[in-house]
Amino acid sequence: MVKNKTGIWITGASSGIGKAAAKEFARTGSNVFVSSRRVTELERLNNELNDENLNLNIFPCNVASQSNVDQVVKKILAESKLDCLVNNAGLTSFKLAAENSIQEINDIINTNLLGSIYTIKALLPHFIQNGGGTIINILSVVVSKIFTRSTVYSASKAGLLAYTNSLREEVREHNIKVVNIIPGATETPMWSQEVRKEKSDLMMSADDLARVIVSAYLQKNNIVTEEITLRPITGDLK
Ligand SMILES: NC(=O)c1ccc[n+]([C@@H]2O[C@H](COP(=O)([O-])OP(=O)(O)OC[C@H]3O[C@@H](n4cnc5c(N)ncnc54)[C@H](OP(=O)(O)O)[C@@H]3O)[C@@H](O)[C@H]2O)c1
Repeated sequence: MVKNKTGIWITGASSGIGKAAAKEFARTGSNVFVSSRRVTELERLNNELNDENLNLNIFPCNVASQSNVDQVVKKILAESKLDCLVNNAGLTSFKLAAENSIQEINDIINTNLLGSIYTIKALLPHFIQNGGGTIINILSVVVSKIFTRSTVYSASKAGLLAYTNSLREEVREHNIKVVNIIPGATETPMWSQEVRKEKSDLMMSADDLARVIVSAYLQKNNIVTEEITLRPITGDLK
């Protein structure tokens, strides 16, 4: 059972881990707000859930735009209190540092790092006023293990880890829980069709990950799940 009826906001819910998390949260009876840039994919997800008599609140948002984040947060809060933010929106390029365009570098940093900071900044006053909340960040094992073709991605996730670890100490007094989920390879559209076809057995499923995300949120009372690392039993992809 969900601990209360206030809302959950999930960014990047049109695909992969965010989509699976939206379904899993909706099944607990939460009031789920979903964002991403592709509204048609959010509508498709909502239609899938309608078949289970569940419903999502669709609020398109490009988290790389600070003004868009602020507008969307205002709109969501006009409808409901929020108890949880899931910072999931993210992307990577799988290119060597020398091959990344400036546009790709900006997109990855602006979405993965700044986008998450924008959503947190926009919601902190609300959580403080409410007497608490939960901020769940979907990071990656790149924060602690070195991979090539991941320079900017690693910088974005390691930056968010540093930001949120510091934030956690600042907001304890407000009963705000900061949860960092650190997954290894997960089978989602982030990976090319070829990799997914060849290596799906060596990857976690987004649905399995989503169950862990929701259970971290559901921890009761004064427990905060500060950090969870999740890997396929076979270890990281080679
Ligand atoms: N798959 C893995 O192996 C893995 C491992 C560790 C961590 N992660 C992390 O898990 C998170 C989800 O990734 P995924 O694997 O589920 O990939 P995915 O299937 O490609 O999903 C990425 C989601 O982020 C959204 N998004 C991208 N840019 C956005 C923006 N500027 N504003 C709002 N939404 C944006 C996309 O929606 P739109 O395109 O519609 O905007 C999509 O819903 C990411 O943060 C990723 O770094 C993934």
